[in-house]
Amino acid sequence: MFDICPHRWQTASKIFRVACHRLRAFKQVCEVMEMSEVKVGVIGCGMISVRHFQAYTSLPDVKVIACTDVVIERARQRATEFDVPHVFSDYRQMLQMEELDAVSICTPHAFHAPIAIDALKAGKHVFCEKPMATTANEAVAMIKAARENQKLLEVAIRTRFSPSVQLAKRLVDSGMLGKVYYAEGFIGGRRRIPGWGGSAFIRKETAGGGVVLDLGVYTMDTLLHILGQPKPVSVSAITSDLIGKSKEALVEGGWQWEVNDFEVEDFSAAFVRFEDGMAWVLKMAWAMHADSLGWTFILGDKGGLRLEPFELYRDEHGTMANITFPALPRPDSLATQISAFINAIKEGRTTPPTPPEEIMMTNVIIDAIYESARLGKEVACNIPKLD
Ligand SMILES: NC(=O)c1ccc[n+]([C@@H]2O[C@H](COP(=O)([O-])OP(=O)(O)OC[C@H]3O[C@@H](n4cnc5c(N)ncnc54)[C@H](O)[C@@H]3O)[C@@H](O)[C@H]2O)c1
Repeated sequence: MFDICPHRWQTASKIFRVACHRLRAFKQVCEVMEMSEVKVGVIGCGMISVRHFQAYTSLPDVKVIACTDVVIERARQRATEFDVPHVFSDYRQMLQMEELDAVSICTPHAFHAPIAIDALKAGKHVFCEKPMATTANEAVAMIKAARENQKLLEVAIRTRFSPSVQLAKRLVDSGMLGKVYYAEGFIGGRRRIPGWGGSAFIRKETAGGGVVLDLGVYTMDTLLHILGQPKPVSVSAITSDLIGKSKEALVEGGWQWEVNDFEVEDFSAAFVRFEDGMAWVLKMAWAMHADSLGWTFILGDKGGLRLEPFELYRDEHGTMANITFPALPRPDSLATQISAFINAIKEGRTTPPTPPEEIMMTNVIIDAIYESARLGKEVACNIPKLD
């Protein structure tokens, strides 16, 4: 028999109680720490996925726990490079992981909408590469899935996070340009037809379209954003595939692609009218016999603005003034956007940093560009009702 004196018993029991209390407190801290770590999966492990892995792995409370690619070797390679524990060839299996909070979609354009909708339905937040979708109807279905499942849907239009676009928006919002009546945008280059990924960018089935979807979205969203989301009314456009289909266009120094697979447009020019009388001219080229077709300009009755190189044109004190700005920083805007997405998840916000309803408008204009080019005449823009 042990004979423990009451005093010793009381001391032992007190030590035990304090230890239990501290253990409970430690467990709670661990749980909070665990909650504040966002667990991410990457779908599609090709070229752009590297920038997603790099951005997530540079953030303090984020862990990429899974990745998937239909070509399993690509997923395995990224898993090795970025220390990712789970690899799948079918993204649906990855979506079954309870602990997964969010996914990045880095697949060819045509799979953005169906995969985003599946992920949102599985209760995951979605960071989706551009273009948002191949049609406005798909974009609407994505927005509805995000709303119904109360998850964030962020589309990677990184230009919104560029300091020059943000400065341009501040200048326009402050009234420096007065009433804006015209804008013009060019994006592209001489021989930039993407030929990688088994022709995924140049086949209709996987891409949905060519340069308009791939690059045009940047110019369209930049102008829509800076100008306060004006409503497009109609579009008159042409598209061309003459260089993409030409074997002679495969020259030294240019990007290479499989000419026989080329099914989309390599060039487009569009005239877009807006509700308030403003108009835009958009020029988009994956390929052409010229280096450039100019810059992006915005014209108002009190001032004009050129983006990249950034310059403000105004009449000041009776003279024509060109106002330049100190060199604007050029951070990795995609990483900035990914960081903003993660913060929105951690803070439990109900809306993403970039409203998908605004990005959907690029698909509205794109639908009209393709329709106008097909019919050879001006067509009305069809803005879907979301509510
Ligand atoms: N934001 C940017 O700056 C930027 C830059 C480049 C590309 N992108 C966009 O990212 C997307 C991918 O471009 P990329 O250059 O990385 O293409 P890529 O061809 O290099 O990679 C796409 C990957 O997706 C995989 N894939 C295809 N279907 C899949 C599926 N159902 N499930 C899982 N994986 C699948 C392919 O096997 C491939 O490895 C495109 O939509 C493109 O517009 C964005």
